[in-house]
This record gives sequence, C-alpha cells and structure tokens, in this order.
Amino acid sequence: MMATIRFLLLLASALLLASLVHTAAADSDDDDVIPRLSFPYNAKERSVKRFSADGIFNYTSLLLSKQDETLYVGAREALFALSLSDISRGELQKNLTWSTPERKREECSFKGKDLQTDCFNYVKILLRLNTTHLFVCGTYAFNPICAYINTSDFSLVRNSEGNVVTEEGRSRCPFNPEHKSTAIMVDGELYTGTVSNFLGNEPTIYKSLGSSPALKTENSLNWLQEPAFVGSAYLQESLPKGSTHGDDDKIYFFFSEVGKEFDFFDNTMVSRIARVCKGDLGGERVLQKKWTTFLKAQLLCSLPDDGFPFNIIQDVFVLTPSKGDWKKTVFYGVFTSQWYKGAYGSSAVCAFSMEQVERAFSGRYREVNRKTQQWYTYNHPVPEPRPGACITNATRAMGIPSSLHMPDKVLNFVKDHFLMDSVIRSRPLLLKRSVRYTQIAVHRVQGLSQAYDVLFVGTDDGKLHKAVNIDGKMHIVEEITLFSEPQPVQHIELDAEKGRLYVSSYSSLVEVPVANCNNYGSCGECVLSRDPYCAWTGQWCQDVRKASPGSNWQQDVERQTRWPSAMSHP
Ligand SMILES: *[C@@H]1O[C@H](CO)[C@@H](O)[C@H](O)[C@H]1NC(C)=O
Ligand SMILES: *[C@@H]1O[C@H](CO)[C@@H](O)[C@H](O)[C@H]1NC(C)=O
Ligand SMILES: *[C@@H]1O[C@H](CO)[C@@H](O)[C@H](O)[C@H]1NC(C)=O
Ligand SMILES: *[C@@H]1O[C@H](CO)[C@@H](O)[C@H](O)[C@H]1NC(C)=O
Ligand SMILES: *[C@@H]1O[C@H](CO)[C@@H](O)[C@H](O)[C@H]1NC(C)=O
Repeated sequence: MMATIRFLLLLASALLLASLVHTAAADSDDDDVIPRLSFPYNAKERSVKRFSADGIFNYTSLLLSKQDETLYVGAREALFALSLSDISRGELQKNLTWSTPERKREECSFKGKDLQTDCFNYVKILLRLNTTHLFVCGTYAFNPICAYINTSDFSLVRNSEGNVVTEEGRSRCPFNPEHKSTAIMVDGELYTGTVSNFLGNEPTIYKSLGSSPALKTENSLNWLQEPAFVGSAYLQESLPKGSTHGDDDKIYFFFSEVGKEFDFFDNTMVSRIARVCKGDLGGERVLQKKWTTFLKAQLLCSLPDDGFPFNIIQDVFVLTPSKGDWKKTVFYGVFTSQWYKGAYGSSAVCAFSMEQVERAFSGRYREVNRKTQQWYTYNHPVPEPRPGACITNATRAMGIPSSLHMPDKVLNFVKDHFLMDSVIRSRPLLLKRSVRYTQIAVHRVQGLSQAYDVLFVGTDDGKLHKAVNIDGKMHIVEEITLFSEPQPVQHIELDAEKGRLYVSSYSSLVEVPVANCNNYGSCGECVLSRDPYCAWTGQWCQDVRKASPGSNWQQDVERQTRWPSAMSHP
C-alpha cells in the first residue's frame, strides 16, 4: 500500500516536472542566447595554439606560473612544463613520466577496477609549494600518492637511493580518477576537498602538509553529504593589515551535495559554499584535530518564478579585483540542473557577491531535529564568541587567542550548527538552452567607456563561449569549437595580463587569445560585435588595451547607438 502511494506520488511529480520543463523550454525559445559568431574547429580567423603528446591523454590539471613563464600540465602518467612563449613548440617543452608500477596496476585490477581506464596514475593535484618546488598528487591506480617536483630541472624529487620521495595521497587526492575534488596551497599548507577512501563514500575537507597540525571535517556529524567538489579559493580577509576588525584569512570550498534539509524529493541536490579560517587549530577537548570554523550555506541559482533551480554547481571562478579589496569579490558559478536533462539540458551562469556571502555566514543557523531529521531555523540565543567565526581582535580581547581556547559550549554548538539558515541567491546572468557548461573563467576588462566582466565558459562538447552581460541581458560574442572531437572542457586557466586562455580536455590542450579584433574587417563588424576587447580606430579594428588616452576610437558594447541596418562606416 505504502509503496503504491509512493509510486503515485512519484508519478505525479514526474508529470508535473515534464509539463514545467516543457513550458519553460517553450516560453524561452525567444530569449535563448545565440552566439553572434560561431567558429568551427581550426577556423583560421580564430587561430589557436595546440599541445598534445603521443599516447598521452587526460590533460586534467593546469598550473600557470608567471614566475618561470611556464604552464605546467598534469595528464595521465605524465607531466609537462610548457613555455608560455609558445606551448606548441616541442623543443621548448620538458616532460616527465610518473607511471604506475605494473604490480600496483595488477592490485587495482584485482580489486575490480578497469585496467584500461581506472588503473593508471591521473595527476589530480598540481600546485606550487614554494619558489623551487611543485607539489603533485596522482590517483596511482586507485592508491593515491603525492610527490615533489624540482622546477629547475623538472624532475620528481628522489632520495639518496634514487627512489621518488612520496607523501600520503589519501584525503588529498581521490582514488577514482572520475571523482571531483579540489585542492589549494596557502603558505605551504595544503587544503583539499575530496574523498578519503577506496569506496569514495568518506568525504573530507582536509588541511595538511604545513607545520600546524592536520585538521579535517568531522565525519560522524555529517557535515558533508556526498559532495562533488568543484573549486576552492583563498581570500585574505585580514587585509588591510591593522584593520579594526583584525579578522582572519579564509579558505572557501564550492561543491554540490545531497540537500538533507529538503525532504520533498528524494536526493535533492544543492550547491554550497563552505568556509574555514586559516588560523583554525582545532579544539582542545571538543573537536580535537577537527575544524572549529566549518560553516556552509546554500548557493541558489534560479529564475525568480521557476520552481526548478539550476541546482548543481559545475565550476566556480572567484574574481577579486585586487588582493586588498576582497570585499569586492564576485563568485561566478556555472550550474546545471538535476531536472533539466537530455534535450532540455540547459545551463546557467550565476554571480554571488561577497556581501551576500558575508550576510549569510553572519546570519542565523539551521538545526536538525535528530529524531525527525527535519531542519529548522535556530531562533534561540547563540553562545559567545560567535560559533564558527574566526578569531578577531574582539575574541582576543575576551582572552581567546586561538581555537584551542574556545569554550566547549561554543564548539559543541558548532558541531551541530554548520548550516546557515539563509540562502545565497542569484538569478542567472546567462541561461543557455541545450548546452551543458562545465568550466568558467572571468576576465575584467576595461572597455573604452567602462569595465566589463567577460565570461569564458566551456561546454561538455568542447566549445568555448565568450559572453558579456549588458544591462542584465547576456550577449554571446562568439563560440569557438576547440577540439576535433567533442569532449568536455576540463579546465580553463586565464592569463589575465597576457589575455590568453589555456583550455584542456581529454586529447589535448589549446591556447586561445581572449580576442581577435583583426577578424572584424569593417567598422560595422567591429562595433556590432559588441566585443569589449575591440574598438574601431578609424582604419581597423584594434584591441582597446592599445588605445592611448583621448584617442577617438569607437566601441558600442551597450548598443546605445541605433545602427542603420545597412552599415557603412559611421
Ligand atoms: C619528452 O621529452 C623528450 C626530450 O625532449 C622527447 O624526446 C619525448 O618525445 C617527450 N615525450 C613526450 C611524451 O612528449
Ligand atoms: C621547497 O620545498 C622543498 C620540499 O619540501 C624543499 O626541499 C626546498 O628546500 C624548499 N625550497 C625553498 C626555497 O624553501
Ligand atoms: C633541483 O635541481 C637542480 C638542477 O638539477 C639542482 O641543482 C638542485 O640541487 C635540485 N634541488 C633539490 C632540492 O633537489
Ligand atoms: C580520460 O579520457 C577518456 C577519453 O580519452 C575519457 O573517457 C575518460 O573519462 C577520461 N578520464 C578522466 C579521469 O579524465
Ligand atoms: C587588531 O589587531 C591587529 C593585529 O593584531 C592590530 O594591528 C590592530 O591594531 C587591531 N585593531 C584594533 C582596533 O585593535
């Protein structure tokens, strides 16, 4: 009987869903954004540089190093150091193989994993440790390990016996190469969001490697619910130094997970932003060697009147105008929906301001009723100092110099109140039907009259969209097909100074300039493109960054001028 009712309910909701999806798709056909220009693979008007090596696949990690003018690339069983002057020139590249011994591959296969896909070493973490070394971790045939790379000769650091010096990979790098995870290095400390076991069901946010004790999330308290991590960021909120608040720096994590606070559908997914304080040392008695500052909040990307949000974050780009200006940070995320699938598959880009994020983290908490598993807003008094907040001057003034001195009642409160009550909302800046976005990078560029945030979004079939938001309306300036075979964009690295993007996927890596103004041959083409990078000089279409002050170039990204339909030179 119960089963029948349950089935009917499911059926009803499925029908409701189908009709909603249908109207949503039908209503919005007109407002779907179509790229103004679309470049096929290898179009000479939008030329790119390519890198790939014979027999090497899965170019999954990228590290742009200004310091040594190098792009470091982590692939399957191999790493590369490419010269930024030309990534495609073989004679300028260095490589190293980091392969899995046959014995490890056999073990992996014996445990039921696929010898041809799973049982290799996929480089998942590639970060700068210090001025001379990189820190790398690989899945190593479902047996993750980490190692060091000496950048001066681009080789794995070995001990006196000639063996590679390795570090524990567990809790840092996932076992399964397909598993989503994130890692960031801050002052020699490694922060990771991943899973810590073979089965992939033990999620963790873990800090290690530095001189302070390792910290992790508390598993028994369900702080994380099957998370898929998509990014992490470091924000120096202690700046400017000597600020009246004396706040600590923070590390933010972005992921989707099962939203236990929603019980109307089974396994409703939600997107999250979580944070921890850099100075966290764990508790003394309560939350020993665990985070005392772990808090999370929901990120909601949805149309104001649409029931079904874009609830699964796929990637995030954290845009901070300058180091000391962390308050002006914008979090750009690409989202897909658990409900819009197949032909209805669509994606959205949403943006959340630091102010919104701060408000959520300093607002009310949620609390779960352990018996009913229902979540409620916590409306009662909260212990002091504020649970989950970083140590500030005010805390120090209370005689609490670190988390080790935090009163037990505060730490006991944190254990159960890690979810913020308020939801951080944004309506989509860009909504694209029938496309699945996987990655995003954002470049703030100064146009002739104002600054624009230009979005570069990668799709699951290997295209790149360049888009700009003008007065709340999105305009896709161009679409470029990057790879010969459709494959998901895995990573986008932006060199903001040089104006280049490095985009990787399964088969190769490409370098794309942010714009090619030369491609716009006439004044009309140049101005109508609404490309914030380009302006008409009177003779040709040029990069605006080359304009000298007071030059009489023309650009019209906002389209204030009503251009006549048959364009001649304005
Ligand atoms: C690695 O570099 C060597 C020397 O430049 C070159 O011969 C070899 O083909 C490279 N290997 C790969 C996989 O690119
Ligand atoms: C960087 O880290 C490596 C590995 O721990 C160490 O051997 C090296 O001395 C460090 N270099 C600097 C400049 O601190
Ligand atoms: C790194 O490589 C350079 C060049 O081979 C070497 O001189 C240096 O000693 C190495 N550093 C370490 C820490 O192994
Ligand atoms: C590696 O590349 C293959 C295609 O060559 C793809 O099927 C697979 O999912 C990729 N794996 C990872 C972990 O990127
Ligand atoms: C807060 O602490 C910082 C660092 O300890 C100090 O420089 C600053 O003057 C303090 N601010 C106030 C208002 O006490």
